[in-house]
Amino acid sequence: MTLSIKLSMGDFGKTAPLVIGYRCLREGAPITLISSAASFTKKEEAWLITALNNSRASGKSDELRTITNPEGQLIVAVALPQKSDLEGLRRAAGVASRTLLGYKRATFAIACKDGNEFTAIVEGAALGAYHFHQFKGSHELPASLEQISFTPGRVIKSAQATIKRSEILVAQVRFVRDLINMPPSFLTPERFISLVKENLPSNVRASVKTHTQLKSEGYGGITAVGQGSANPPRLLHLSYKPTKTKKKLAFVGKGITFDTGGLALKPAQGMEAMKSDMSGAAAVVGAIIAIARLKLPISIDAWAPLAENMVSESATRPSDIITIYGGKTVEVLNPDAEGRLILADALVRAAEVTKDLDGIIDVATLTGAQIVALGKRTAAVMGNNEQLQERFLNAARTAGESFWPMPLPDELRASLDSPVADLANIGERMGGMLVAGLFLREFVPADLPWLHLDIAGPSFNEDQAHGYTPVGGVGFAVRSLTHFAEVTATG
Ligand code: BES
Ligand code: ZN
Ligand code: ZN
Repeated sequence: MTLSIKLSMGDFGKTAPLVIGYRCLREGAPITLISSAASFTKKEEAWLITALNNSRASGKSDELRTITNPEGQLIVAVALPQKSDLEGLRRAAGVASRTLLGYKRATFAIACKDGNEFTAIVEGAALGAYHFHQFKGSHELPASLEQISFTPGRVIKSAQATIKRSEILVAQVRFVRDLINMPPSFLTPERFISLVKENLPSNVRASVKTHTQLKSEGYGGITAVGQGSANPPRLLHLSYKPTKTKKKLAFVGKGITFDTGGLALKPAQGMEAMKSDMSGAAAVVGAIIAIARLKLPISIDAWAPLAENMVSESATRPSDIITIYGGKTVEVLNPDAEGRLILADALVRAAEVTKDLDGIIDVATLTGAQIVALGKRTAAVMGNNEQLQERFLNAARTAGESFWPMPLPDELRASLDSPVADLANIGERMGGMLVAGLFLREFVPADLPWLHLDIAGPSFNEDQAHGYTPVGGVGFAVRSLTHFAEVTATG
């Protein structure tokens, strides 16, 4: 596991690479250094600017130049956004970290105007420094950044607190990325739980329902999805109850450790990405651990229904009728629409266990339609409470994750009617993301404020790395959920 990264204030001096920023209004225009490097003389600055000019730096986003100075120190210069743009700063710092593969330490000497800019740089630097090497066989793996030091160039009042918070938050984003990147034969439902337990702080309680318990206690959704696999399903419940709390939230995350589509088998091409179908479960686990480590005054329950959706003689058949926890029956017309089945069980259970929740949020790589609608980098938010949705969207924006509100149109609900059960698990194809949201709504009490986050696109990056986002598991939604808990706790 690649959990820890040590963040600190100060300068490693000439022994470690130095990251600075620059701005340039357009190609060919004069370059301004945005550096707080204590060691720079006027002469060195002029030398660097010449070197950047010679390298035809134009200042556009994600641009970066590496220069070795006459003393042999590596200088990484990253283009910073022109105007005030915290996400742009976060990305720029991430670009710098990603290029520092092979180094264990670096100093980030990007000058900051205020605490918000400083936070963005710290987060971006730490998030970009992630690499997943656990399953590489070679002994000559490049080093990854283990320590990053920061010099903001002016006194930032809460600098130490920012460093501490970022260390906690980023450790959990990295944990979630690790879980997503692990191969599915390794990351079975049971292994998921044991890795979570290893990472659990002492102020979070875990309880697990086994396959036998799920069957006998009526969790028909999780059972139906998991019964085709040799790796049996589980329901993981984590709970963080600080002594001084007024607010209570529940998170529910989709934990399909691999989605073959079941008897509605997916095409071979692209199926490998379905190891990421547990990204929602990983995100809610990462968030509750971050919240508990930050000791936020808010009570959180996190639920992770875990199952592997496989093809076998014991797999659920199209037309099978199952009973979700709480008694509603569902005709499984398509075993590839499995996420909603395991979430339905967990949503009902979550609302039953904790009374007077201030909100319940489910997180899931639920539909391909989400990606068609919003692309690969923007997730969707649906729900039954506009106020909660607005508050979440604001928190997500501050956290630097892209979410967009989507409707739950009533006219689509009838498409989920079944002639033989209370509900079918698929409906109208057009607007498939919204239909999935409407399905889930059936399992949430009408008076309980609820949000559904469909993160199918942004949770797994199959393209190039960009900003602070690596290839593979992204760790999406951890930062938004954690920040949402921060604002809910204090609001
Ligand atoms: N896990 C998939 C959704 C998905 C697709 C996530 C691509 C990430 C990338 C989900 O279980 C699924 O297969 N959904 C079906 C639903 C359909 C059968 C109604 C889909 O989107 O095609
Ligand atoms: Zn599926
Ligand atoms: Zn799925």
